[in-house]
Amino acid sequence: MKNIVLIGFMGTGKTSTGRLLAGRLNRPFIDVDKKIEQETGLAISDIFQLYGETHFRQLERDAISRLARYTNTIIATGGGVVLKQENMIRLKNTGVIVSLTASLDTILERTSRRGVRPLLDCEDRAERVAWLFKERACLYMKADYIIDTSCMSPHQVAEKIIVFL
Ligand code: S3P
Repeated sequence: MKNIVLIGFMGTGKTSTGRLLAGRLNRPFIDVDKKIEQETGLAISDIFQLYGETHFRQLERDAISRLARYTNTIIATGGGVVLKQENMIRLKNTGVIVSLTASLDTILERTSRRGVRPLLDCEDRAERVAWLFKERACLYMKADYIIDTSCMSPHQVAEKIIVFL
């Protein structure tokens, strides 16, 4: 059976929705960031701080290339997975791509905890979110299904994905 791959900007609910979806469908769940943390023994924020974003993107690409061999799995990706076309080709070859989106206000509110997302650890978070979101918007459109999660709980989003499938 094909994987279900969740993509989307930070704060769109990929991890929470993916975990719930896996439970509902009785299928395995993998969170790519968690996998990188387990494999390196470092938090994502520490990887960024110690080795920089380019190194993190290499780790992310390596993790995706290994995940591409999985089947029947619900995969929650990090928000920047779309930045490398090879990641998306690999993921698309293994399954259905579901893109989660949300309004900028929702994203800002959901990502307000500091220290967790290194790309948003800056003085003007609102400006950074708006800029990154605009830069990536078209990449998140390359999906089989797009869901606006702004006014929905992860439970509702998971149910919507099940209906779609
Ligand atoms: C990133 C998103 C994060 C994490 C890293 C980079 C991004 O994952 O992979 O901080 O570039 O958008 P989440 O989308 O799960 O927050």
